[in-house]
Amino acid sequence: MNRFENQIAIVTGAGRGIGESIAKSFATGGGKVACVSRSDSAAKVAEAINASHPGAARAYRVDVADKKAVEEVSAQIFADFGKVDILVNNAGITRDGLAMRMSEEDWDAVLDTNLKGAFNFIQAVMRPMIKQRSGRIINISSVAGLMGNAGQANYAASKAGLLGLTKTLARELAGRNITVNAVAPGFIKTDMTDVLPESIKTAVLGQIPMGRFGEPEDIAAAVTFLASADAKFVTGQTLTVDGGMVMA
Ligand code: NAI
Repeated sequence: MNRFENQIAIVTGAGRGIGESIAKSFATGGGKVACVSRSDSAAKVAEAINASHPGAARAYRVDVADKKAVEEVSAQIFADFGKVDILVNNAGITRDGLAMRMSEEDWDAVLDTNLKGAFNFIQAVMRPMIKQRSGRIINISSVAGLMGNAGQANYAASKAGLLGLTKTLARELAGRNITVNAVAPGFIKTDMTDVLPESIKTAVLGQIPMGRFGEPEDIAAAVTFLASADAKFVTGQTLTVDGGMVMA
């Protein structure tokens, strides 16, 4: 199914986990993908994609929190691919701790990467998207942004902030045929969650009606739907993919 033929996607945090799965899904759908990560890991993902879909992927190394660097890497992506149709802001980090003891550094690091990083990339692609009168922006939020989570004041604030950003940009860009949506994953099996103590994993599992953790592919499926032509009349929404953990 070539639903992303002639489409160019940027996926941030594509070096592993959910971002890797999203990047691979675009390539499987016939699209081309700029795999962005702050480490060299995106290069390995791009290599794996190109092995099965020659020429479909390129890797870019940048810290999404660095506005100037994001502008430069975006200019390079436009030079390499000619256009950008889809932006997935997936790069994210945690620096957990109770609010009482949370350092300014941990607050800033999480907000700068998760929220400002998304805005940096949006600003870098929105003008060309407005000119081409089409585009898809998808921000990866979290159930923590919907319901809060003890020990994650910085992370939950960044993920809730992404929802306000999503709705505002959906309103600003709707007239230009650009949709802006969010996906809120529940507990997904990746390196980010692998480090959590067993006691927390067991407690979370008890809150998931489907009785299991999600896979990166579950999130990639939601993202590719929102990025596809099928979702052309969907904007400003949050698609929660969490096995029923949060029900609006
Ligand atoms: P991960 O830690 O496995 O991968 C994150 C990726 O983002 C890595 O490739 C890393 O290099 C990249 N990254 C981090 N900071 C960056 C920066 N400043 N600049 C560029 N790249 C950066 O995480 P995972 O689990 O794949 O999560 C992906 C997204 O999904 C994150 O935004 C996370 O908050 C969100 N999410 C994950 C959930 C889970 O259960 N795993 C649940 C809800 C949301």
